[in-house]
Amino acid sequence: MSRATTPDAVDAAPAPLGLVVLVSGSGSNLQALIDASADEAAPFRVLAVGADRDGTGGVERAQRAGIATFVARVPDYVTRADWDLDLERQVAGHHPDLVVSAGFMKVLGPAVLAAHRVVNTHPALLPSFPGAHGVRDALAHGVRVTGCTCHWVDAGVDTGPILDQRAVRVEDDDTVETLHERIKVLEREMLVEVVTGLAADRSWLRA
Ligand code: GRF
Repeated sequence: MSRATTPDAVDAAPAPLGLVVLVSGSGSNLQALIDASADEAAPFRVLAVGADRDGTGGVERAQRAGIATFVARVPDYVTRADWDLDLERQVAGHHPDLVVSAGFMKVLGPAVLAAHRVVNTHPALLPSFPGAHGVRDALAHGVRVTGCTCHWVDAGVDTGPILDQRAVRVEDDDTVETLHERIKVLEREMLVEVVTGLAADRSWLRA
């Protein structure tokens, strides 16, 4: 006879998905994740925030929320490979299930990518306009619709499998700044939805 499953076992929610978030700038995408994880029942938690430079708004936001932070600056290492290894060590110290690159302006190296699953958010509709200037490049090209993409990170620059996208119409009087601000409104929503989905279906952890 099979053992009866107790109601408690059926209802038990999985532990929240643990995130390390990497930032280089103001951290508004990070803030969206922090806000969405404030509820005790939230499906994910920000365990730590790492930056590639000093003085980021993202690290300040993390500190205000009582979240651990670290900084790993490329110029502080003899080689880029040393930076990659130390970044991996610092990330791993927080035992994340998932690393989120949220406005992190460095290409991650092989040590980080071998040890962690990483998602990135990019302010253009990939595969168009990859790289550090997606908003500027889309505007300069004259596209009428651009947007944002959330994707798995692989060894390329903004080339990994796409998880989700949002479209934004380009207005005639848009500047890089006005367009980027409208993209970021949707980007923050998209990122929270993607991470929530990855917390709900964790089959990717075994892939
Ligand atoms: C985002 O648009 C991200 O995609 C890009 O830089 C921006 C970062 O914004 N790479 P924030 O620091 O999250 O406010």
